Amino acid sequence: MLKPDLLKAKIRTKEEVLTKTNEYIVKENLKQLGLNKKYYVKTYGCQMNEHDSENIKAILEDMSFTETDDMESADLILLNTCAIRENAHNKVFGMVGRIKNLKEKNPNLIAGICGCMAQEEVVVNEILEKYNFLDIVFGTHNIHNLPNILYTAINKKDLEVEVLSIEGEVIENIPVKRNSKYKAWVNIMYGCDKFCTYCIVPYTRGKQRSREPIYIIDEVKDLVEKGYQEVTLLGQNVNAYGKDLNINYDMSNLLEDVAKTGINRIRFVTSHPWDFNDSMIEVIKKYDNIMPYIHLPLQSGSDSILKLMGRRYTKKSYIELYNKLKSALPNSSITTDIIVGFPNETEEDFNETLDVVNTCKFDGAFTFIFSPRVGTPAAKMADNVSLEEKNQRLYKLNELVNKYSKEANDRYLNKIVPVLIEGTSEKDESMLMGYTDTMKLVNVKAPKEYIGKIINVKIKEIKTWSMDGEIAE
Ligand code: SAH
Ligand code: SF4
Ligand code: F3S
Repeated sequence: MLKPDLLKAKIRTKEEVLTKTNEYIVKENLKQLGLNKKYYVKTYGCQMNEHDSENIKAILEDMSFTETDDMESADLILLNTCAIRENAHNKVFGMVGRIKNLKEKNPNLIAGICGCMAQEEVVVNEILEKYNFLDIVFGTHNIHNLPNILYTAINKKDLEVEVLSIEGEVIENIPVKRNSKYKAWVNIMYGCDKFCTYCIVPYTRGKQRSREPIYIIDEVKDLVEKGYQEVTLLGQNVNAYGKDLNINYDMSNLLEDVAKTGINRIRFVTSHPWDFNDSMIEVIKKYDNIMPYIHLPLQSGSDSILKLMGRRYTKKSYIELYNKLKSALPNSSITTDIIVGFPNETEEDFNETLDVVNTCKFDGAFTFIFSPRVGTPAAKMADNVSLEEKNQRLYKLNELVNKYSKEANDRYLNKIVPVLIEGTSEKDESMLMGYTDTMKLVNVKAPKEYIGKIINVKIKEIKTWSMDGEIAE
């Protein structure tokens, strides 16, 4: 058993991170382990977590398992979890209860937990105490070892826990089963060294490790050849890309090289305001295939709260960066993340946040109530704000955010915009859906042949969370 250790997860060494190109191996005797067996993977977290699920699925298929979207009929269930807020935890443990029932009906069912919750010491202790009917727990650093973990669990018929707390090498040969044929996630870096005081990610994902540029570019070139239209470059703090590589190559260089592959659309998430430099802005402006869409988390508009959060920018410098981006890229859309109810946030602090929202008029915002995460500094801060107060602030903030998001959408009425058509609309089977270059969801009445293509759409109606349009060509 290898349990996670929060103290170890905090450690950052100067040791060079190696790239391994042959670390993932499925031994001959494991290639048929999943023959005639079905797997079900449920994903709870961010884009990186989704992409991990794409890797996990491909690994399982290398072992002859086949996918099902019906959990009840699966022989193997994996919950790929997120640890960012408490409600993510609760959802997972609710599902674990359902799995217990399924296991009572089918004693051969193998079930496990992976992802960011598996990296948390408290969670693994809880599983060992209360949910030890599960078969496997593995972390974010040992996905490549899944074949061996699974084999051990099946043979010992007991809970197998393998969670490395210290990140290892960057492993380049993990297979991937992509959810979409048109747009793809591409990791550019793993981990995060920012240690914002509320955030669990630096502990669950380890130290910042950038992939070497050559592997990223080759992956994108391969996607272009396969007909992909869009890539999203993924990292917790993509603007810091390359800083750990010691090769004098940063995010602006990477963006430029990815743009030169000729892929039609490039997106990147998430940008921390701290590392957003001028050369990045120049490159985004220069290349038409870098989308004019930036997710720029604010978290709070109050300088004292930002300081307590360890965000390394001020209200003023955030607004300056915002204005710089808007003047360089006037047609861009900018979205953000905001936390309300950080420990001891006063009414004035909260008003500063509202003030930034009124100044920036974001295209959209994800808003959250602060959730204390065990092991982070903010979880230890005394807090005098009631939950009722926090809920009221969230409500007020959402009203303002929604107002500006509607205003931003209203500007699209009767405009012609490029949309990458991804498939049929969830709500109305007769409509197709896709996203504009600026990441607005559009439903279009168009024949299915358009799926996978970028088409010009004239926007005819604005709704709260989407727009309806018709083909303009
Ligand atoms: N790397 C990204 C954020 C990833 S987590 C960045 O630095 O911007 C996504 C969002 O979840 C964060 O932007 C933050 O708004 C929110 N979040 C993170 N930890 C949280 C916590 N403990 N409580 C509430 N929201 C949190
Ligand atoms: Fe968390 Fe901050 Fe890192 Fe984002 S930059 S993942 S909020 S520690
Ligand atoms: Fe959640 Fe881990 Fe992503 S905590 S937000 S799944 S990095």
